[in-house]
Amino acid sequence: MRITRRKTFNAGHRLFRQEWDDIKNREVFGSCSNPNWHGHNYTLFVTVEGRVDPETGFVMNLKALSKLVDEFVISKLDHKNINLEVDFMKGVIASTENLAIGIFRQLENPIRDQGARLYCIKLWETENHYVEYFGGKQ
Ligand code: NI
Repeated sequence: MRITRRKTFNAGHRLFRQEWDDIKNREVFGSCSNPNWHGHNYTLFVTVEGRVDPETGFVMNLKALSKLVDEFVISKLDHKNINLEVDFMKGVIASTENLAIGIFRQLENPIRDQGARLYCIKLWETENHYVEYFGGKQ
């Protein structure tokens, strides 16, 4: 059985490689490479998998899951600059793909400690695109 908790946050970023000039960055990353930053309203879906506990009827207490996501993800990202302020995104390009991987790694162990398994991180950067990460091989 799988259950999903939805969360929203907003954050700023810039997609760029230091060793490329602004023209090449613009070519590859488009408007997301704007040197003066910009933000997105992200929507995050955290899906966990497990057996239904006969005592509670839950796979995992959704309040507990919500608290974990707030503590390990939302508090670190919301209203922040992903390139400059988010510890688990240091040294990687602030793409939706890398952000989903970073969020997965933040949550994997805390969710396991609660007796469930993190199944998928789904992350919407805009209404028109999202990524899904299931852990392990990309
Ligand atoms: Ni962007």
